[in-house]
Amino acid sequence: MRDKPDHYSLQAQREGYPARSVYKLKEIDEKFNIVKRGCNILDIGASPGSWSLYLCRKLKGKGSITAVDLKELGRGIDCPNLKFFKDDAFSESFQKTAVETGPYDAVISDAAPSTTGNRTVDTGRSYNLAEDVLNFALKNLKPRGSLVIKIFQGGDEHQLLDIIKKEFKTGRILKPKACRKESFEVFLIGTGRLGG
Ligand SMILES: C[S@@+](CC[C@H](N)C(=O)[O-])C[C@H]1O[C@@H](n2cnc3c(N)ncnc32)[C@H](O)[C@@H]1O
Repeated sequence: MRDKPDHYSLQAQREGYPARSVYKLKEIDEKFNIVKRGCNILDIGASPGSWSLYLCRKLKGKGSITAVDLKELGRGIDCPNLKFFKDDAFSESFQKTAVETGPYDAVISDAAPSTTGNRTVDTGRSYNLAEDVLNFALKNLKPRGSLVIKIFQGGDEHQLLDIIKKEFKTGRILKPKACRKESFEVFLIGTGRLGG
């Protein structure tokens, strides 16, 4: 069964995180130094809130986090420098807020579309979401800012990676250890936004 608690799920329970996905961000952060003291971060697709809670704990009240999801955060995800919006990240209303709250030191997205089981459809939906995140980040990241975007592998993810490589000092694609073996998600990572 897919949701059988594994090492990461048990660790998440012990550490008070609502989802095991926190260890994907933790690995990315440890490798690429995304979450820096005092930084302003946008967390897209934040529910149930493990990534936001990781940011809160790491920032320790210094810096600010704007988080958005179609669904509510889980209970207990609350810290003074986190502002959560229940909305579509690309709605007109949230986009206005997101631009006003920026520019950002990091834009991170674990957003995943609802899946149909049809790999071509699901990969296409994930690509569209990832492309929207990338376009937003290119306009709203500070110089030297960082980007993390989840995308389902098997579509045109290398096209987005090519753009990231041109627009950032480094562009990488990574499948963190905490991704389930059967999952086809990977993360596009850009560090050192060029320009400005
Ligand atoms: C894998 S979960 C995120 C887990 C989260 N990072 C955590 O650690 O708790 C993916 C989320 O993306 C959200 N999502 C998908 N499309 C979205 C959109 N257009 N705007 C906001 N959230 C979206 C879904 O509602 C879902 O909660």
